[in-house]
Amino acid sequence: MVEPGKEQLLARLDIFDSIDSTNTYLLAQGKLGAVSGTVCLAEQQTQGRGRLGRVWYSPCGANIYCSLLWRFSSVSHDISGLSIAVATIVANTLRQYGILAGIQLKWPNDVLFAHRKLAGILLERSDQSGVVIGIGLNIDVSSAGEKSWIDLSEIMGRVVSRNYLVGLLINELLEKLPIYEKQGLPPFISEWQKYDVLFDKPISVHTPQEVILGTMRGITEKGELLLLNEKGFLQPFCYGEVSVRS
Ligand code: BTN
Repeated sequence: MVEPGKEQLLARLDIFDSIDSTNTYLLAQGKLGAVSGTVCLAEQQTQGRGRLGRVWYSPCGANIYCSLLWRFSSVSHDISGLSIAVATIVANTLRQYGILAGIQLKWPNDVLFAHRKLAGILLERSDQSGVVIGIGLNIDVSSAGEKSWIDLSEIMGRVVSRNYLVGLLINELLEKLPIYEKQGLPPFISEWQKYDVLFDKPISVHTPQEVILGTMRGITEKGELLLLNEKGFLQPFCYGEVSVRS
């Protein structure tokens, strides 16, 4: 049953057999005036994109490639915490699908299982009020032979219904994004803490300027990573790559 209010939120659903990138497509649609709640799914991406200019492995019919255009009602709405909120939305979707333990979130928005990458999130601003939220969820990446990745088929040991799962994901996004829009990140922080794989770990934060060592002490209300540095000060980071030190 569709809950009251939710039925207006999925504005449009565009599904492709093959596309360069669902994010690239929605960025272009956003410029043409596509409305908030437009979703794009594809069976295959020929130029799937990850964070930091990386390629996102996107073979045909094997995984979920999903993008959603969201328009905030105020121009230049602060989206600094949005990637954290979306990561918790993905984690909760996986929980609803039956993965009750083992999901890990790594700041800023990697979704892991057993320290291997299960899903990735790419946020891109389409214009002043719009953001494209791209989610790649591994269902079967066995053909890649990449040990640092994991997929739902391996985790669950059975056939995964991509249609059902992507339905859950879209529902969860459409239900939770209005909460983020009204209240910001605070309602998502306790969820994040349930999955935070870095908390209290010795880490290195790599920024373009330097590498800073310390202990991860959680996230701020804006979604910044809090590092207890070696001088004993709490230092917030809004960007940077994090690795765990052994
Ligand atoms: C990451 O590097 O972790 C982010 C990966 C995001 C991949 C998804 S797949 C759907 C959407 N379209 C893209 O080209 N990228 C995102």
